[in-house]
Amino acid sequence: MGDLGLGKEFHMMTSDKNRWIPTLLETSMSQVGPTTPVPWLGPILHKMPKAGHHSRAWLEFVGSQVRERVDKQVDRADVSASPPAFWCSRLTRQIISHLVAAYNESEKKDVDYQWLRGDTRLTIVGGSDTTAATLTFLFYHLAKDPSQVDKLRAELEPLLDGKTRLDARDVAKAQHLNGVIQEALRLHPAIPSGFPRLTPPEGIMVSGTYIPGDTVVVLPVYAMQHDENNYADADEFVPERWYSRPEMIKNREAFLTWNIGELGNLRVLSSPV
Ligand code: HEM
Repeated sequence: MGDLGLGKEFHMMTSDKNRWIPTLLETSMSQVGPTTPVPWLGPILHKMPKAGHHSRAWLEFVGSQVRERVDKQVDRADVSASPPAFWCSRLTRQIISHLVAAYNESEKKDVDYQWLRGDTRLTIVGGSDTTAATLTFLFYHLAKDPSQVDKLRAELEPLLDGKTRLDARDVAKAQHLNGVIQEALRLHPAIPSGFPRLTPPEGIMVSGTYIPGDTVVVLPVYAMQHDENNYADADEFVPERWYSRPEMIKNREAFLTWNIGELGNLRVLSSPV
């Protein structure tokens, strides 16, 4: 996420010098799970000397990175002037560039800085363990079933067509690769417990049960994506279900890994399964 989130390298793969950064990220996030159902508790804990120590230290680290970035005054023009080493640094240099550009156009009050720092923190936190866990599970399935690797090779080698690496356009054509990614995301959603949503003021009917308006509801993502009502052989890793075996997906809306939409997940339940 250094490259992807901040457009700079922390060399985590070659040195343990900066290992304290992901460790701090993890300790600072340890309260998020228990406090998510009680959102007002987080800011109180954050201000307490002992309980809030790690989350303040993490925020301080993000702040130092943001200040460094603002001082450098990097914008999109700089990005196109110096092509990045590979696609993801290009992508996120653009994300952080947008955030810094918005800050530079603001009145630069403290609240504007808080937005910049908060959005940067969200990008780093949002992209770190989600991606790491998904890739770990994906490679677990490839190691467990080497025939999947053979299928991927058979699909990807012709797409290379003499090049040394695939670009995004090539990958978009790779149906089995996309199926492998979808299956990893389905069987092992990075946020398995789901996110809270508020019912609309008029309330909502869910499978014949009325839930009053302004009620916090959470859909269990992991359970929904392992449910035989939604997927045939739901616990099995079958990439083909995403392209050549559509009958193995019984309810297309029961893919909640991204938790998209203000009410998206509630609609899954309110429609017949
Ligand atoms: C396997 C990869 C990922 C998964 C499964 C994932 C999943 C999610 C989920 C479930 C949410 C919550 C949406 C909600 O509130 O309902 C979320 C939010 C977010 N994610 Fe990811 N994410 C992934 C990768 C990333 C990456 C790589 C980045 C950044 C480069 C990122 C940045 C964010 C941000 C900024 C939010 C907050 C959006 C908002 O509040 O509007 N995520 N992600």
